[in-house]
Amino acid sequence: MPRTDELTQARRGGNDEFYTQLADIEREVVHYRDHFRGKTVLCNCDDPRVSNFFHYFAYQFEALGLKRLITTCYKNQTPNLFSQHDCERAISLVYDGDKNGNRVPDPEEIGIHELQGDGDFRSAECIELLMQADIVVTNPPFSLFREYVKQLVDFNKKFLILGNVNALTTRDIFPLVMDNRIWLGASIHSGDRKFWVPDHYPLNASGCGIDEDGRRFIRVKGVRWYTNMDYRLRHDEIILFKHYTPDVYPTYDNFDAIEVSTVADIPCDYDGMMGVPITFLDKYNPDQFEIVGDDVSLGATKGRFYVNGRRLYSRLVIRRRKTA
Ligand SMILES: C[S@@+](CC[C@H](N)C(=O)[O-])C[C@H]1O[C@@H](n2cnc3c(N)ncnc32)[C@H](O)[C@@H]1O
Repeated sequence: MPRTDELTQARRGGNDEFYTQLADIEREVVHYRDHFRGKTVLCNCDDPRVSNFFHYFAYQFEALGLKRLITTCYKNQTPNLFSQHDCERAISLVYDGDKNGNRVPDPEEIGIHELQGDGDFRSAECIELLMQADIVVTNPPFSLFREYVKQLVDFNKKFLILGNVNALTTRDIFPLVMDNRIWLGASIHSGDRKFWVPDHYPLNASGCGIDEDGRRFIRVKGVRWYTNMDYRLRHDEIILFKHYTPDVYPTYDNFDAIEVSTVADIPCDYDGMMGVPITFLDKYNPDQFEIVGDDVSLGATKGRFYVNGRRLYSRLVIRRRKTA
């Protein structure tokens, strides 16, 4: 399993080299096809020669009806599979679609531009590219995730990006979740995901392995897509069948809401405030519920709710929306 320990190590050590599989991109983007028509897509943490994000959007350019695909890489200009950050300058690629009718992105159809700097998404020239984009799609560096999201929000961009579920309750991301300005994507709600890692990645790290093609991978838990583009499944109601009784659903010692320890147990007939696990966000339908806050933002003692003196895991507080 990996897991959080690898992610923690990645964050601390600045090791951000985890590479997304094509299948994970395909499974998610399919839910947003209408959003992409006529749009410029930017993948700004992606070495275009090896990124599956570039590969996917270049090959799906016509099917999605894209206007333009822009990709930038960080530091590396060498065509190795994995970024070694051995060059301070970077490149950007621009693809405006198939010109010769073979429906394949040929090298002569792709414009290559040397960047002045290292391709940092925060640099002025990368922000210039961000401003040209309608939708940003990538797996950004784990260690800079919150800063990355803030930039997308500040520039009012649509996005579809991979991150860890733990980011949901951070002080930068949670207010956006509460305001329905960011939510979880459609295709990943549990389990782990396989990412390619560089050859120097320690094989004895938990979850690390080598596939039949000799490529090193790691399985990462807690991965989620984060987006601000709507999709149909997000409006499916959570089917509820339990009924409220005060003995089954105790009220917190330190907040006026009832404890609901799993999403499936949310009572169908309770209109007050309810505390639910963070995993609620994997099923959250904003037409059915509103998010009132979480234990921290609602000022719970020591940041957690208690039931009969027992400290609980992190909780969101939700309330049913009134139906017309
Ligand atoms: C988790 S990896 C994902 C790579 C690629 N997007 C993918 O999904 O296959 C994050 C990438 O961000 C790059 N990166 C790190 N810091 C960056 C920065 N400040 N600006 C842009 N890219 C950065 C890393 O080199 C790394 O390749």
